[in-house]
Amino acid sequence: MRVEDSKLRAELADLGVEIRSGTSMAELTSLGIGGTTDLLRITRHESICELLALLERNQIPYKFLGGGSNLLIGDGELPWIILQLAKPDPEIVIEGNLAHVDAAADLGRTVTFCAKHDLGGMEGLIGVPGTVGGALRMNAGAYGMQIGSYVREVKLYRAAERRIEILRGTQISFEYRHTSFAPDDMMLAVTLELPSKPFKEVLQGIRICNEKRRSSQPLGQKSAGCIFKNPPGASAGRMIDELGLKGLSVGDARVSDRHANFFVNAGQASAKDMLTLIADVRRRVENAFGVKLEHEVVVWDA
Ligand code: EPU
Repeated sequence: MRVEDSKLRAELADLGVEIRSGTSMAELTSLGIGGTTDLLRITRHESICELLALLERNQIPYKFLGGGSNLLIGDGELPWIILQLAKPDPEIVIEGNLAHVDAAADLGRTVTFCAKHDLGGMEGLIGVPGTVGGALRMNAGAYGMQIGSYVREVKLYRAAERRIEILRGTQISFEYRHTSFAPDDMMLAVTLELPSKPFKEVLQGIRICNEKRRSSQPLGQKSAGCIFKNPPGASAGRMIDELGLKGLSVGDARVSDRHANFFVNAGQASAKDMLTLIADVRRRVENAFGVKLEHEVVVWDA
């Protein structure tokens, strides 16, 4: 979808929105898959309410993109524009045990930045690609920890109220890869409260998690991390592996040889290839184990 009207483009510019016309979503997602649309980069949080009202008045549908690392976007010309927060400077401000982090900040950079200020707790998230906003919305977790445990406060655009609000961590429920945020809420910033830990100790934890991840996940390949959630008490990766499905392909979409719950784009995979592969694996798991796997990856199909 294209924003062509020159009056509207001028109004957007007045709100501090940068328009990148005809952006390929394949370049903005870790899977390297996705069609084309206009990308609107938001440079001022305060302009969001006005921006969304303007888009609604002009009947322009939109989606809100974080770091694009847990996302499968459809092929071709997309029927909505994409909104994304531009990174402010600074992205992170430390105040004692609190880290005030912009939602657009890179998650890995945030973990190491906090480590350098002798703050730990988030070591498990090292190596998880994406933004802090995306991690927060999904309650990203690994190696026994989840980001939700450290959330003191969240600044967000509340779609239902059409305004920017601040929620305390205790007002939000954080579950396994799920939060109580509404689907159209937009994460803007978070304050994390982290335990004090000497830099060297945090670094040691980071090294261990990095090593575990390197040895079990296909980090050098284009993927969206795990495709399915783990069902209670079971492992989606192990089930897919037990069925001998590593290497199963549709076009260039392929079940990783290293971790069976990672599906990689081994070349020029389309969204259609990837969705066909996902549906096929899901059906085989259901036939063999009677378990309906739930998507962990977010799908925006046109
Ligand atoms: N396994 C296999 N074959 C495989 C993959 C895994 O047999 O191909 C077995 C492993 O040997 C292990 C068990 O399955 O006994 C679990 O595997 P692993 O430790 O790799 O963890 P996982 O449950 O597959 C979860 C998260 C990952 C996170 C890791 C580490 C989900 C869906 N996945 O994976 O998160 O990095 O634990 O904590 O919760 C993601 O969310 O995208 C993601 C990758």
